[in-house]
Amino acid sequence: MKFFVDTADFDDIKELQETGLIDGVTTNPSLIAKSGREFLPLIKEICAIVDGPVSAEVAATDYETMLKEGRKLAKIADNVAVKVPLTPDGLKVCKALSDEGTMVNVTLCFSASQAILAAKAGAAFISPFVGRLDDLSQDGLQLIEDIVEIYDNYPEFTTEVLVASIRNPNHIVESAKMGAHVATIPPQVIRQLYKHPLTDKGLADFVADWQKTGQSILDAA
Ligand code: G3P
Repeated sequence: MKFFVDTADFDDIKELQETGLIDGVTTNPSLIAKSGREFLPLIKEICAIVDGPVSAEVAATDYETMLKEGRKLAKIADNVAVKVPLTPDGLKVCKALSDEGTMVNVTLCFSASQAILAAKAGAAFISPFVGRLDDLSQDGLQLIEDIVEIYDNYPEFTTEVLVASIRNPNHIVESAKMGAHVATIPPQVIRQLYKHPLTDKGLADFVADWQKTGQSILDAA
């Protein structure tokens, strides 16, 4: 499973990139606004430190303008994935950009039927929003299962399922069980993945017991 980090905070991206566990980044207009940074220079900076796909979302909603914006974003770096909304115009742009060889991440997906359309439009990634469905007491993970099952029936569908709107480690684990290709994860949820109280306790016990030996590995002959 690939891990993308879902943020536009450059410091968080830099810190997590240094773990060697990050395979890409996703941003969206809300995350860009939250960063307080100028959009295109920030995407350029992120693309310079992250080898994998970096999603940068168009701002327009009409075909002509989204296409122009998408082409401009794609020129920032080879690893830019242009993000477009799952609308009729968004999928037309997806088809046009994909045919030009540009990676496209189709976002704001909330149904399996939408995901089929995105695959037919040649999307590199589909972003179903698990957390926002859960927020409405719907079953976000069921959507992931449905999309993976449908895509597996059609070898011609090369779109990767990029699980988005992740709220907790369980979303990641359950999506991985279903065979989703990518999880895009908020920094604070990535940090939660490491945590288990028994790991902390077990390590503390090992350290204490080692200190009782009075030995040092580095000083040993
Ligand atoms: O960036 C796309 C998606 O991950 C946003 O999720 O619901 O936390 O805004 P959300």
